[in-house]
Amino acid sequence: MASRTHLAWILVLPCLAASVDAKESSADWESKLDVLLSRMTLEEKAGQLNQFSVGQPTGPGTHRSAYEKMIAAGQIGSLFNATNADQVNALQSIAVEQSRLHIPLIFGLDVIHGFRTIFPVNLGLAASWNPSLVQRVSRLAAKETAAEGIRWTFSPMVDISRDARWGRIAESAGEDPYLGAVLAQAYVHGYQGDHLEDGTSILACAKHFVGYGAAEAGRDYNTTEISERTLRQVYLPPFRSAVDAGAVTVMAAFNTINGIPATADSFTLGTVLRREWKFSGFVVSDWTSIAELLAHGIASDGEAAARKAFVAGVDMDMESDLYGNELPRLVRSGDVTLARLDDAVRRVLRAKFTLGLFDHPYARASDVREQLSAESLALARDAAEESFVLLKNDRANGTHPLLPLLAKPRLKIALIGPLADSPQDMLGCWSAQGRATDVVTLRAALAERATAKGMLFAYAKGAEIVGGDTSGFARAVHIAEVSDVAILALGERGDLTGEAASRAHLDLSGQQENLLKAVAATGKPIVLLLFSGRPLTVTWATEHVPAIVAVWFPGVQAGPALVRLLFGDMNPSGHLTATWPRTVGQEPLYYNALNTGRPLAAAPAGLDRFTSRYIDEASTPLFAFGHGLSYTTFDYGPPAFGRDSISAKAINRHGESIAVRATVTNTGLRAGSTVAQCYIRLVGTSVARPVRELKGFQRVHLEPGESKNVEFSLGKQELAFWNDAMRFEAEACHLHAWIAGDSNSGSHVELRIRE
Ligand code: BGC
Repeated sequence: MASRTHLAWILVLPCLAASVDAKESSADWESKLDVLLSRMTLEEKAGQLNQFSVGQPTGPGTHRSAYEKMIAAGQIGSLFNATNADQVNALQSIAVEQSRLHIPLIFGLDVIHGFRTIFPVNLGLAASWNPSLVQRVSRLAAKETAAEGIRWTFSPMVDISRDARWGRIAESAGEDPYLGAVLAQAYVHGYQGDHLEDGTSILACAKHFVGYGAAEAGRDYNTTEISERTLRQVYLPPFRSAVDAGAVTVMAAFNTINGIPATADSFTLGTVLRREWKFSGFVVSDWTSIAELLAHGIASDGEAAARKAFVAGVDMDMESDLYGNELPRLVRSGDVTLARLDDAVRRVLRAKFTLGLFDHPYARASDVREQLSAESLALARDAAEESFVLLKNDRANGTHPLLPLLAKPRLKIALIGPLADSPQDMLGCWSAQGRATDVVTLRAALAERATAKGMLFAYAKGAEIVGGDTSGFARAVHIAEVSDVAILALGERGDLTGEAASRAHLDLSGQQENLLKAVAATGKPIVLLLFSGRPLTVTWATEHVPAIVAVWFPGVQAGPALVRLLFGDMNPSGHLTATWPRTVGQEPLYYNALNTGRPLAAAPAGLDRFTSRYIDEASTPLFAFGHGLSYTTFDYGPPAFGRDSISAKAINRHGESIAVRATVTNTGLRAGSTVAQCYIRLVGTSVARPVRELKGFQRVHLEPGESKNVEFSLGKQELAFWNDAMRFEAEACHLHAWIAGDSNSGSHVELRIRE
């Protein structure tokens, strides 16, 4: 098929016929693009900027004809939600063989945490604090995706989220801009690989630009108000990092930001993205976000909506069906310049060139369409294991922490809960081509282990995830009573997270907490496995249950990874990347907050009423950002700076930096890994800075008794901030630095940054 296409391309555009190879300079592409652009009609140009989902209806009543007809007429530049090579190739052949200029389509899909091999949800992947793992996961996802001829994913989602009510926190890296920026880069490198044209790479899409995660009250699609300083300091850095890593596409967000819908915001799309960052890829709208400018009230008809989004900088229209219809007219009337149209089309065509689509538009026959390979399944299990966060591990009726369990013959285990055997939920939100039948559940894996080790094992669902039915309690309590230990698998349903899945309550839904209480009343030791796509308010459980692990939605290898966790075949090393509140009323709750003028800790005894706190609940989180235990213990020695002094001038002008280091020791009896986290606070600055900010992290593996030194370099990137003049600069001030295992512990070292 590919050679036939190539032939058509040669016949139509002889001067573009030379194959586009990796060594070709971008100047060569640009001249080919010039030739192509010069041959296109306004309608064909607008067509390149039109994108539709193949699942959406066409024909009478939809304002659009069948996609096949539109593709042949050059009215579509991209399709998404085609999921396999046959579908892709059939549609692609219309574009390259029947359309006048034979320009290939680019196919997109939401490959968010895997294509067919589904890995843990992104919040869980982030809990690994392991960029190399994230890169391997996204590389593998890219291979499975590209083999089907789909060369573009709408990922990574790099929205900072400080509010667990927002359902899409599950797709994010959590609340921290530094970690978010590091992981954004890892995703982009994984998806896009070393060479975009090598056939196993797919375009990354940093989304949703920008501020979407700050939705007021955590309600999806809601308004955001974000000062320019906070925008630059908190919400923009992961996008900047994705763009610097080479992300070819960016998706505009649904929300308004400071009164202007992000999809029509020339400040963020124009000033920041294009002019300051020199972004050379293209911007796609979110699903109908251009048409939604009408609902936002900044456009009274489709023409105005198309014009505002396009002029602001949205190059491709996802699903609104407005660019195709409106742009030619807008250019003819002079309301939109031809130069802007050419710029947008050039960006899209350049991406197609870069992917090698003009030469290889189809799923390549030579591609190994291997899904769920042994390699992917091994990576899926590793990723799940690295995502687990041991929140609590107390002693239960003995001297040892409850976990890991000792797999001794005749150990009687009660497995209870609706998530112990629910394959679909293990996939979480956005599971692309993932199938429930691919999943090994905890129940299945535990049954296998129990049989192999001569342990006795019984299962009871106990309750549903939602709803009021308690009829399963009796059997659950009974199997717990006759067992040595009860493992409870509770939490959220996969579809209680993700898009349009904001929650006003963050506790265990339905009757699950009552089930937990009923089982706890037996007095048997309980291990609570929490499946979720967000922090949960499990305050009662934290007070009454000895061992709790956040296991997120672990993906296709959920069961094997969980069994290895329970019996200590692996040692958990995940750390939280979003703060867990005690109660929903604390949200938005995040560690890198400003101090206020009346912080609780500074209040003189007896005068703490008039401090920034709640009168009916502690102000502190249930589990802090960065928290995560291990089956061993670690000690962090006091931090020390590598030099005595540094000046702001040296940092700003000469790129000087200062090292901070500490010794980490494994003080327990097992080998294990911790994540050494470097935090700073700046005091005496022109604008108030957070009580702590993450500025570096390092995973450290230590044998029992072993110590290692960790060192972090603090330079301009770490020490500068957007100051009172809105310049990104370091200032003379006091620098406090911590190296600790979470955002709440450790002691700091202090140094004055001179003028
Ligand atoms: C979501 C995007 C997604 C798009 C395409 C939208 O509803 O907000 O994240 O990429 O749909 O499926």
